[in-house]
Amino acid sequence: MTFTLPPLPWPEAALEPYTSANTISFHYGKHHKAYVDNLNKAVAGTEWENRPLAEVITAAAADSSKTAVFNNAAQVWNHTFFWNGMKPGGGGQPTGEVARRIQEAFGGYPQFAEQFKAQAVGRFGSGWAWLIVDGGALISTANADLPLAHGQTAILTCDVWEHAYYLDYQNRRPDFVQAFLDHLVNWDFVNANLGK
Ligand SMILES: [Fe+2]
Repeated sequence: MTFTLPPLPWPEAALEPYTSANTISFHYGKHHKAYVDNLNKAVAGTEWENRPLAEVITAAAADSSKTAVFNNAAQVWNHTFFWNGMKPGGGGQPTGEVARRIQEAFGGYPQFAEQFKAQAVGRFGSGWAWLIVDGGALISTANADLPLAHGQTAILTCDVWEHAYYLDYQNRRPDFVQAFLDHLVNWDFVNANLGK
């Protein structure tokens, strides 16, 4: 198979109690895996096989006949990025270069957190909240869409599809996003992305 499901960066129970092992088991083992499987089916025997994932995403984004390829490829990329952007004992005040950038762009971490949460909670239906390098901006995208498809560079994301939080938080998306910010964000990963 061209595309494979990358291993999680931590054990399934590592993010408890903020995200349960049960949620990770379904979210990674069922949802993320299904995007990988469906992407492989969608590209089988086509020019898209054996191309790097990011190239498939940007090429498919520009071709309206390739929606299935784009949606599955983007969701494979988004989920891998989301897992790496979390760690046990994470969240809270940022460290390193990103702390300085957040201070500069938002006036402080509390303002950043408030605006990130507003993006995540305000996204109607399914989608993603992002911190992007470009102007130190916060954006959200719908469904599978992602900054890469718009020439932007993401450094952090939060999955706000219901499958990301419903087993643990039911309809309380704001509580999930707050827990993500307070306890899960992997600022080392964000700083590493800044350096790329
Ligand atoms: Fe998801």
